[in-house]
Amino acid sequence: MRTSRSGFTALLGLVAMALVLAACGGAGGSAALAAQPSAPTPDIALVGAGRNAALRYGCLGCHSLDGSSLSGPTWKGLYGRELLFTNGTRAVADDRYLEEAIKDPLARVIQGYAPVMPPQMPVSDEEVRAIIAFIRSVR
Ligand code: HEC
Repeated sequence: MRTSRSGFTALLGLVAMALVLAACGGAGGSAALAAQPSAPTPDIALVGAGRNAALRYGCLGCHSLDGSSLSGPTWKGLYGRELLFTNGTRAVADDRYLEEAIKDPLARVIQGYAPVMPPQMPVSDEEVRAIIAFIRSVR
């Protein structure tokens, strides 16, 4: 009796989290994630935290999730894409590059964009990790 009860509580928690994520709406991917009961819970939580941080810091005022170009490049399909920088070098958008781009935006500037991303935003390492997980989920 006890075990099935706590199992049910855990399930309720999962469902509540899925509902919260779905309610946030918008960005493709999260709905698909929430629909998969087998998706690992920590990732869903991390992606949600990343989305919240991106909203809170105003990242989404410059980075769209739907492919449209604002003053910054869209995050749709960004992860794994090859980028060309104003200094002529290239890099694939992986975890390491994204971390650099968030913490030190002027280190390498993507060709076709002005260096207008605010340097040194007070984003913690934990938030950077979450934002990267969120970017990875925006397909
Ligand atoms: C004022 C507009 C602006 C804001 C606000 C902004 N960015 Fe940017 N961001 C840019 C521009 C422009 C570029 C492209 C030029 C460059 O590489 O610096 C960029 C590039 C990036 C890149 C490189 C990869 C890519 O194609 O997007 C990442 C990652 C990124 N920003 C993350 C963030 C995060 C996270 C935040 C919020 C904490 C944020 N940005 C806030 C304008 C902005």
